Amino acid sequence: MARDRLLQQAAQLFEHRFGRAPVSVVAAPGRVNLIGEHTDYNDGFVLPMAIDRYVAAAVGPRSDRVLRVFSSEFQQMREISLEALERRTTASPERRSGRGGWFGYLAGVAWAMLTAGHRLRGADVSLVSDLPVGAGLSSSAALELAIARALAETSDIPWDPRTFALMAQRAEHEFAGVACGIMDQLSVAASREDCALLIDCRSLETRDIPLPPDARIVVFDSGVRRELASSAYNDRRAACERVVAALRRRYSWVHALRDADDALLADVAHDVDPLDLRRAAHVIAENRRPLELANAFACNDLQRAGRLMMHSHASLRDLYEVSSPQLDTLVDLALEQPGCTGARLTGAGFAGCIIALVEAGSVERVMSSVEIGYEERQRRQTTAFVCRPSGGASLFSTASTP
Ligand code: GLA
Repeated sequence: MARDRLLQQAAQLFEHRFGRAPVSVVAAPGRVNLIGEHTDYNDGFVLPMAIDRYVAAAVGPRSDRVLRVFSSEFQQMREISLEALERRTTASPERRSGRGGWFGYLAGVAWAMLTAGHRLRGADVSLVSDLPVGAGLSSSAALELAIARALAETSDIPWDPRTFALMAQRAEHEFAGVACGIMDQLSVAASREDCALLIDCRSLETRDIPLPPDARIVVFDSGVRRELASSAYNDRRAACERVVAALRRRYSWVHALRDADDALLADVAHDVDPLDLRRAAHVIAENRRPLELANAFACNDLQRAGRLMMHSHASLRDLYEVSSPQLDTLVDLALEQPGCTGARLTGAGFAGCIIALVEAGSVERVMSSVEIGYEERQRRQTTAFVCRPSGGASLFSTASTP
């Protein structure tokens, strides 16, 4: 199994870099979002699925209070003093801007754990991954939850997926400067094997949603990355907040777009910028789709499930404007194939990946036709793979990694 191989690689890398055996190995998955895009920070519903691609970490304690990490992906060793990080808990917010690339996410998580009152021991950590970075598959949330799980283990802190997901989100807000919702961290922390995870982002309640037996989720990576996606993301979030402010002037009980419907939105149509209105219209319609998709799955109805995904993509393209020519081409190509019932961009958008809902017997044909078509229409190569629902961040015994 790919996960076992990664865990083994992490353990071997640890021995090679730190000259001793690790005490634990952990794996945190990436995720695709099946539906409910840009609804999480509007207190809405999402239906992500953790996938069988991971960040694996091997960890061992140190006698001092230093966190030292080697990443095989970046071929870099980085370290930070936990005492220095601890002092930042009382520093002003402007000083909490340790934006240090991949290591910034890890330092951010350690900082969030310290700020929550945990006493952290020093640790050595080695990291390996088979998740593409920046592809919209939540490699950063996987990194965050892998280190959280590893540090919880070496510092004897009981693991609770929801609490640690919130700490990882805080790290992302304060260290990476992305005002993300809770979807990525919670699905990476709390998913169950073989299920997608329906999340109510207001109450943080979750429900495991099994996929129909014949359904396969295929990822197509556009190969395009967008550097400034975080500022466009923060812009979308600000647009939603402006509409909420307008709604609240009339309806004081509205706290987020989750509380609004089309009729309410029509009432404030003249009070808000037309572009903001389109953003809000997307969120309100999209927020109905996670529950509808969960129902379609329960009825084993892949046609209805696929239609919901198509509507979601069209709305993200036309109203929320977070698609791209490459993502649209991939979606169009997938939808042209018999056996593919739906397709949409997944994650924040702007670049990265799409997912296609495909009947099991058609997977190989759909994959090769889309690969050929993408090269013809976009003069680019797509990397395609089938992903299976995976459990959230987990600890494994080092005994299973010879
Ligand atoms: C990113 C964010 C999530 C979510 C999606 C869009 O992945 O991290 O919180 O907002 O974009 O649905």
